[in-house]
Amino acid sequence: MEDGFGRKIDYLRVSLTDRCNLRCIYCMPPEGVELSPHNEILRLEETLRICAAAAGLGISKIKVTGGEPLVRLGVGAFIRSLKHCAGIKTVTLTTNGIALGNFLDELPGAGLDAVNVSLDTLDKAKFRRITRFDKFEQVICSIKAAQKTRLAVKINCVPIRGINENEIIELANFAGQNKITIRFIELMPLGLGAGLSPVPQAEIFEKLRREFGDLTPSAGQEGNGPAIYYNAAGFAGKIGFISALSHNFCGACNRVRLTVSGFLKPCLSSDIGCDLKAVMRGGGDDKAIADAIRAAIMLKPVRHDFCENSSRHKQENMFRIGG
Ligand code: GTP
Ligand code: 5AD
Ligand code: SF4
Repeated sequence: MEDGFGRKIDYLRVSLTDRCNLRCIYCMPPEGVELSPHNEILRLEETLRICAAAAGLGISKIKVTGGEPLVRLGVGAFIRSLKHCAGIKTVTLTTNGIALGNFLDELPGAGLDAVNVSLDTLDKAKFRRITRFDKFEQVICSIKAAQKTRLAVKINCVPIRGINENEIIELANFAGQNKITIRFIELMPLGLGAGLSPVPQAEIFEKLRREFGDLTPSAGQEGNGPAIYYNAAGFAGKIGFISALSHNFCGACNRVRLTVSGFLKPCLSSDIGCDLKAVMRGGGDDKAIADAIRAAIMLKPVRHDFCENSSRHKQENMFRIGG
């Protein structure tokens, strides 16, 4: 369906859990966080019911996120059911890669189409500094093993000033050598991310250009999200950018989000939306759920307000929204 500004909404990001097996400095405090009580979290059948209703309104692509989605029990069966849902064409997953290796027998067979794995550094000690866990090798092994399956694999990297900004070329080379697409994501001022400094796209772009030659826009569509992709003569692969601050992409936004507690958020940066859990648990039938989704999509703001409402964004939690 179209939102109030004529944008076609066909992509739903679904957060399955606010739990995570890492504590990235831009996302979760070292001591962890107060997790949502069990009955506050949608049961997977409830999530499926919402996805089915959304599919009836034109959602055809689903991204499974977290926290870390692979810590949610039943995630494989959930993805299998999603793929059987009328109207759902593509199901993809974004993960930190820690547990991915254990799921590579199950997920391709369940119908998962693609996986994005976070990788912010190639330095073991720095991985520990960024994620607060010593699990670097697990992520690298997962990425390499995932590539041997039928899944499309991409790497997500969030450069942070003074932390991993000096590794842009090494990370790009790692991706290129393994023929994986890498995306550089501008750190957004959400939650703990607000206390760290992003590295603007222009700066990353220039470093890459000096190393690999001119970057030219890539033809064809890759993925369902906001990334813009480039090729370079000296680089075997694609390099993407997701730059919500320096290259606002809200005008072409195609997505809404379902939080772990069943709140439909039409925009990452806004509090408005609809408590679909309340509609459903209050006895709402499928039509009532669809009506509530439609109404929430019509509330979608024209653009994010990261730069205007910084104190509210500091209170947000990426691990609850699912990125
Ligand atoms: P694919 O292209 O299909 O791989 O999807 P994607 O890029 O949307 O997936 P992923 O979950 O890997 O998201 C990558 C980054 O993009 C994360 O940091 C998200 O928070 C960010 N992102 C995705 N959608 C939006 C959006 O609507 N607004 C903003 N500001 N950031 C977004
Ligand atoms: N800004 C940008 N990206 C973020 N991610 C988590 N927090 C932020 C933030 N504040 C990224 C993760 C993961 C994706 C789902 O979101 O690194 O790749
Ligand atoms: Fe976990 Fe992702 Fe947050 Fe890191 S960014 S703590 S991997 S949810």
